[in-house]
Amino acid sequence: MFSSLNALAPDPILGLIALANQDSNPRKVDLGVGVYKDESGLTPIMAAVKAAEQRCFQSEISKAYIGPAGPVEFNSGIRELIFGAQHAVLQADRVRTVLTPGGCGALRVGAEFLKRCSENATVWVSDPTWANHLPLLGNAGLKLAEYPYYEAGSEGIKFDEMMSALANVGRGDIVLLHGCCHNPCGADLSEEQWRALTELADKNGFLPFIDLAYQGFGRGLDEDAYGVRYMAQHLPELLVASSCSKNFGLYRERVGSLSVLGNNPTQADAALTHINNVVRGNYSMPPSHGGAIVGEILADAALRQDWESELSAMRDRINQLRVLLVDKLHGQGADRDFSFIAKQHGMFSFLGLSVAQVDQLREQFSIYMVGSSRVNIAGIAQSNIDYLAQSITAVLAS
Ligand code: LMR
Repeated sequence: MFSSLNALAPDPILGLIALANQDSNPRKVDLGVGVYKDESGLTPIMAAVKAAEQRCFQSEISKAYIGPAGPVEFNSGIRELIFGAQHAVLQADRVRTVLTPGGCGALRVGAEFLKRCSENATVWVSDPTWANHLPLLGNAGLKLAEYPYYEAGSEGIKFDEMMSALANVGRGDIVLLHGCCHNPCGADLSEEQWRALTELADKNGFLPFIDLAYQGFGRGLDEDAYGVRYMAQHLPELLVASSCSKNFGLYRERVGSLSVLGNNPTQADAALTHINNVVRGNYSMPPSHGGAIVGEILADAALRQDWESELSAMRDRINQLRVLLVDKLHGQGADRDFSFIAKQHGMFSFLGLSVAQVDQLREQFSIYMVGSSRVNIAGIAQSNIDYLAQSITAVLAS
C-alpha cells in the first residue's frame, strides 16, 4: 500500500529548522520559523510560565479526563484576554471557548465546524496568507479563494481591492482575517479598516473567522484585539482561533483556543455541542498541561503582571529591532527604501527579495528565511544585525 508513495518536499517553513541546524557557519542567522528569540538566540521559557508550571505540578491531584472543551479556568481566562473582561458579548453570555492543541488545532476544529454549518462554504484567505492555513482549512473540505491584501512596492495593504473582492462574498461563506501581526507580511488593518470591514460583513452576511496567533506581539494586548472586539460588538456571529505559542512561549506544549460567538446564549450553547463533537471525533480531548499553565497565570494577579511585563519586553525588543534594521540597511547604503519594516508589526516582514536572492543569502552568507523573503525579526540580535544588513545590501547590489 505504501510502495507507490513518493516522498514529499520538506515543509516550506519547518524545513528551514533542519537546514539551519545543519549549517556549521558560526555567522549563520536563522530568520526562518516564527519563534521568539532573545539576544543570545535562545527561545526562553517565560518566568511566569515556569512559576505557574511549578504550581500546577504541586496542585494537580488527578490525571482523569478533562473533556473535549478543556479546563474551565483556561476557557474563561483566555476568553477574557481575547474579548476583554467587560465586553458586552461576555456580559450577554454569547461566547463559548474550548482549549485546542495550538492555534493549528483551533483552525482545524473551526474549519470542520464551519463545514458542518455550511456544506458548500468557501473560505476567503488573504493573498498572501500563512502557508499552513491552506491545508488546515482546505483539508477539512472547505473551498478556498483569495482576496487581494499585500501590495509589493508600496508594502501596504490594497484595501480598496480587498473590499471590492469581499463585496461579492455573502451569507454561508467565510472570510479568514489575521487579528494582528499579519503572517507573513506584517502589514495590519488599521482600526478604521476593521470598522469598514465589519460594516461589510454585517451588510453581506459573511462570517469572519479571525486568527489571533500573535496577541500582544504587535501594539499591546488590548490594541492587538481591536478587530476581534469591534467585530464581536457589531456582528451576530464570529469565530476566533487564538494561539498561546508566541505570547506565552508555549510552542511545544500546543496551547490554543477556539471561541464561537453566537447570536444568543442558546445558539452559542448549540454551537459548542458541535465543536465538542468535532473534537471528540478528532483527538477526543486536548492535553491539559499547557492550558493549565495559562489558566493559572491569567487567574493570579501577580503572575499575570509578571507575564504581561515579560511579554511587553519581547514586543519592545522586536519593535526596536525593526527600527534598527532599517537604520543599518540605510547605513550600509542599501539601494532600496526599507522604512516600511519599522511601520509593520509582529514577528514578520517581507524583505521584497526574489527567490534567487533568498537562495544566495542562504548559500553564500548562511542567512535563512522563507522563500518569499519573509524574515522572523525576532531572530535578529545586536550580534548579527550588522552582518545581516551587509549581506542583504551585498545581495541587492550583485
Ligand atoms: C511560522 O509561521 O513560522 C510559525 O507560525 C510556525 C509555523 O508553524 O509555521
